Amino acid sequence: MRTPECACQRRAVGLLDSQPLFSRAMVVPVPVSISRLCEVPSFAPALAETHAREWGHLYAGWDEPVALADFRQERPGANLPTTWVLHRGSGTLLGSVSLVLDDLPGHSGLNPWLASLYVFPKFRKQGLGKVLVRQALDFLRQQKYPHTYLFTEGQVPFFSKFGFSVHGPAQANGHPVTIMKWTSPDPTAAAQEIEDRI
Ligand SMILES: CC(C)(COP(=O)(O)OP(=O)(O)OC[C@H]1O[C@@H](n2cnc3c(N)ncnc32)[C@H](O)[C@@H]1OP(=O)(O)O)[C@@H](O)C(=O)NCCC(=O)NCCS
Repeated sequence: MRTPECACQRRAVGLLDSQPLFSRAMVVPVPVSISRLCEVPSFAPALAETHAREWGHLYAGWDEPVALADFRQERPGANLPTTWVLHRGSGTLLGSVSLVLDDLPGHSGLNPWLASLYVFPKFRKQGLGKVLVRQALDFLRQQKYPHTYLFTEGQVPFFSKFGFSVHGPAQANGHPVTIMKWTSPDPTAAAQEIEDRI
């Protein structure tokens, strides 16, 4: 499924804490993998539909076609924006997380943003949300980003588990949200211009 020009790497998810990676019902287990969406673009339409349904109310003029167009702007090999998907082979999409720029109008000074963390309902509470957040934060550490931000309507307790702290209240398309901030533990992470990295 890898697009020939795609430079990003797929990897098997090795550890989900103590949770099983394989369905007991499967005779031949299919491992859960985490890939950049540009490697598995067939998942993009389903993901766009899900994201638009979940978060469309928070963005003016953002619907499924716009979400899909956003995904298709992700450039192989580029840092940001990027989306990772958790999947089993080419058939089952389990969840996703993105790192994007300028996610919240009126807060252009805060970049990058962790966005669109989503685990499909039947796969929740198995550690997959944690895998996705860790993937995004590991990437930010490797790329030496000093901070990342997110906004959420109701998941402050969840994100607090990963070191995010409340940055302040805000509005997203008229809906009250909370901005949270994560600071890299890496003292060498520099506040380099975002544009220099993408
Ligand atoms: C939030 C979400 C991603 C969590 O995914 P998940 O796969 O169920 O989460 P995990 O199983 O990895 O849970 C990781 C930890 O967070 C805890 N947790 C899970 N959901 C939580 C919640 N809503 N509030 C507080 N803690 C939560 C788990 O108990 C676990 O804690 P532990 O490490 O101490 O055992 C998932 O519920 C989801 O997709 N929700 C809809 C979309 C959404 O709200 N996205 C985020 C907001 S922008």
